[in-house]
Amino acid sequence: MSASGRESFPCYQVQRDEQGQVHGGVSQITRDQLPDGELLIEVQWSSLNYKDGLAALGHPGVARRLPHVPGIDAAGVIVESRNSQWQTGQSVVITGNELGAGQWGGWSRFIQVPANWAVALPEGLSARDAMIYGTAGFTAAQCLRHLIRAEVEPTAGPVLVTGATGGVGCLAVMLLKHLGYEVVASSGKSAAESWLTELGASQVVDRSEVLNSPEKPLASTRWAGVVDTVGGATLAAAIRATGINGCVTACGVVGGAELPLSVYPFILRGVTLAGVTSQNCPLPLRREIWKKLASEWSLPGLDRIANEVTLAEIGGEVSKILAGQIQGRTLVNVGADVA
Ligand SMILES: NC(=O)c1ccc[n+]([C@@H]2O[C@H](COP(=O)([O-])OP(=O)(O)OC[C@H]3O[C@@H](n4cnc5c(N)ncnc54)[C@H](OP(=O)(O)O)[C@@H]3O)[C@@H](O)[C@H]2O)c1
Repeated sequence: MSASGRESFPCYQVQRDEQGQVHGGVSQITRDQLPDGELLIEVQWSSLNYKDGLAALGHPGVARRLPHVPGIDAAGVIVESRNSQWQTGQSVVITGNELGAGQWGGWSRFIQVPANWAVALPEGLSARDAMIYGTAGFTAAQCLRHLIRAEVEPTAGPVLVTGATGGVGCLAVMLLKHLGYEVVASSGKSAAESWLTELGASQVVDRSEVLNSPEKPLASTRWAGVVDTVGGATLAAAIRATGINGCVTACGVVGGAELPLSVYPFILRGVTLAGVTSQNCPLPLRREIWKKLASEWSLPGLDRIANEVTLAEIGGEVSKILAGQIQGRTLVNVGADVA
C-alpha cells in the first residue's frame, strides 16, 4: 500500500478551535500535508508515552505548532525511499528525534521522516514488540547500560526503580530482573504490588518510603543503583541513599525538575549521576540499544504489560497518563480500521 498525494488516511490530530480551546481526535489527512522527509513509512504500531500525553494537550514545550500529530514512537514499513541506504519494504523503528514533537508523529497511518531517524528493525523483534518497548523500553535499556558501564554488578545490592508501574519503570524492573539484579520497585499504587512482583521486583515500597531527610546531605546507604523516572525530591533522596561507587540514572520529571542536593554523595561516596536522553540519542547508540533489546536483553512475556488501543481510542488514555494512572504500556494499533 502507498499514499498518493490525494489519497486520505487517518491520524490523531490536535488542533486549536476558534475559541482557543485545544481538541484532539481522528482526522483524515493527505500525504501532501505531511512534513517533507526522505522516507515515507506506513506505520503499523505506535505507543503512548508521558510526552505524548503533553503533546495531545497541545503543550507548547512538546507540540511546537498546532495542528499537531503526537506519537514519539513508530514502527512500520518503508513504502517510498529517496535515500539509497533504504529500500521499499524494509521494516524500521523510529523513536525520539523530533518525531511527535517538532514534527508530526507516529499516531498516523503514514509518516515522512529524514533517513537518519530510522533504525532497521532488528531480526528477532516484531514491530508490535518494538512498540511495547517504545521510547519507554529504549530509555530503560539506556539506564541499564549506564549501570553496567559504572560496574554496578547484580551482586552489588538492590537497585531502586521509581515510578515503577509507568512505562519506563516497569520495563526497567523487567530488564534488571532479566539480567539478575535484585530490584526494589517504588510506586504510588498499592494495588500494583503483586503485578510488580510478578514482573521481577523482590520488594515493592510506597513512593513516600524512598524519601529521606532532605536536611541531611547523606542518608543510610540502601541502593547499589537507581533507575529514577520521577526527578525532584525523589531523585535527590535516591542519590543521598546510594552506596559507594553506585550509579543513579535520571530520565524523568513527573515529580519535579528541581534537584535539592549537596555534592557530598558524589565526593564522599563516589556516586555517579548518569543522565539519559532518548530524544537526542546518537544513531550508533540507537542501533546498539535496539539490537540488545532484540537479543540478550529481549524480554519474554511483553504482553503482560501491554494495553492495546486504536487511534480512535487513544484520546481516552491521555488524561490517565498525565495523572500517573497508567500501569504498563499503551500500544497504539495504527493499522486498525478506525471509524
Ligand atoms: N529522558 C528521556 O529520554 C525520557 C524518555 C522516556 C520518558 N522520560 C520521562 O520519564 C518519565 C516517565 O515516563 P513514562 O513514559 O514512563 O511515564 P508514565 O508511564 O506516565 O509513568 C510515570 C510513573 O511515575 C509515577 N508518578 C506519576 N506522578 C508522580 C508524582 N507526582 N510523583 C512521583 N511519582 C509519580 C507513576 O508510577 P507509580 O504510581 O508506580 O509511582 C507513573 O505511572 C516522564 O517524566 C517522561 O517524560 C524521559
